[in-house]
Amino acid sequence: MVSPVAQLTTRIAYGATQLPRVAWYVGHGEIMRRLSRAAREREASARPKPQTDRPVPERRQLFADMAKLFQQDLANVEAGIYPLPADHDGSWLKLIARSRLFFEDLPNVHRRRESGEMQQVLTEDMRGKRPAYYLQNFHFQSGGWLTDESAKRYDIQVEVLFNGSANAIRRQALPPLHELFAGRDQRRLRLLDVGCGTGRFLDAAKQAWPRLPVIGIDLSDAYLAEARRHLRRWCWLDLAVANGDAVPLRDESQDAVTSIFMMHELPPKVRRAVFRELARVLKRGGRLVVIDSLQFGDEPDYDGMLARFPQNFHEPYYLSYLEEDFGAIAKGCGLSHVRDVNAFVAKVMVFDKP
Ligand SMILES: C[S@@+](CC[C@H](N)C(=O)[O-])C[C@H]1O[C@@H](n2cnc3c(N)ncnc32)[C@H](O)[C@@H]1O
Repeated sequence: MVSPVAQLTTRIAYGATQLPRVAWYVGHGEIMRRLSRAAREREASARPKPQTDRPVPERRQLFADMAKLFQQDLANVEAGIYPLPADHDGSWLKLIARSRLFFEDLPNVHRRRESGEMQQVLTEDMRGKRPAYYLQNFHFQSGGWLTDESAKRYDIQVEVLFNGSANAIRRQALPPLHELFAGRDQRRLRLLDVGCGTGRFLDAAKQAWPRLPVIGIDLSDAYLAEARRHLRRWCWLDLAVANGDAVPLRDESQDAVTSIFMMHELPPKVRRAVFRELARVLKRGGRLVVIDSLQFGDEPDYDGMLARFPQNFHEPYYLSYLEEDFGAIAKGCGLSHVRDVNAFVAKVMVFDKP
C-alpha cells in the first residue's frame, strides 16, 4: 500500500519532468509551423495544401488524448510496472545544440517538400549497400537514415512531431512485456528490439529491467552509434547493424521482440518478411509487441490527420501501412493477435507465439 505522501511525491516528480518536456517540444512545433507558413507565403508556393475528406481532430481533442496517454504512463508507474521515467534528454547545452540542429535543417526539409526531392541519399557510393527502399530521405530529412547529423536530429524531430509524447508512447510497450516477465528472473530472459534507431525504447526497457539482456538491431550505422552513446550506462546490451528481414539470431531464441515506429517505414513485402523473422526468432510462449501509428478506423476522428500525414512528410509506405491487416500477417506467421491498445496517435499491438 503506497502512502498518500509517496503517491503525491511521485505525481509531482512525474509532472515536473514531463510538463517542461511537452512545453519545449510543443514550442518547437509551433515555431516550425509558423516558419513553414511564412516560407510558403514568401515563395507563393504552388504546392497544394494537404487534402482529405476524412475528419481531422481539433487541437483541443489532440491535447486531451495526449493527456490520457500521460495519465496511463503515470498509472503504469504507480502500478509498479516501471519506475518514474528518466528521459535522459541531456543537459541544457545539449538540448540547445539539438534545437539548433533541428531549426538549421528546416529550410532543407522545406525545399525537399516543395520540390518533391527525396532520393538524395541514393548516391553511387551507397547503392547496393542497403536495400533500395531504405535509401530515401524519409520525412524529407537531410541524410535519410544515414548520417551522424540525421541521427542527432532524429529524437527532437520525433518528439516535436508527437508534442513531447514519443517516449511516453514507447513506454506503452512495457506493460505487455511486464505481463510476460513478471515473476521470472530477468537475467534469463531475452529481448530483441528491431529497428531500434537511437535506442530510446531500449533505454526505457533497461530502466524497467536493468539486468535483462537486450539486443537492438538497425540498418543504420549512424543511428546505432547514437544509440551506443545514449545507452552507454547499461550492461547486458548488444547493438548490431542488421536487417529486420534477416535477423542474425537463432530460431526461437528470444522471449520477447519489440519493434517501435518501424512498420510504417517498410514496403508491404518487406513488412511481411520482417514479421516472419520476428516470429521465427521468438520462443514458443514468447511475445511480440509492435508500436506504430494509429491505422484508419482506430480513432475515426483522426483518420483525416493520418491521411494528410504523408502529404506533408516523405512517407512512401505510410498509406499502405494505414490499411495493413497486422492480425492476418501475424496469423500467417503462426502468431496469435492478443490485443491492440491505442496510445494517443499510436497503437500498441500485442502478438503471442503459442
Ligand atoms: C522511424 S525509425 C524508429 C526508430 C526507433 N525504433 C524509435 O523508437 O524511434 C525507423 C528505424 O527503422 C530502421 N529500419 C528501417 N528499415 C529497417 C530494416 N529493414 N531493418 C532494420 N532496421 C530498419 C531505420 O534505420 C530507423 O532507425
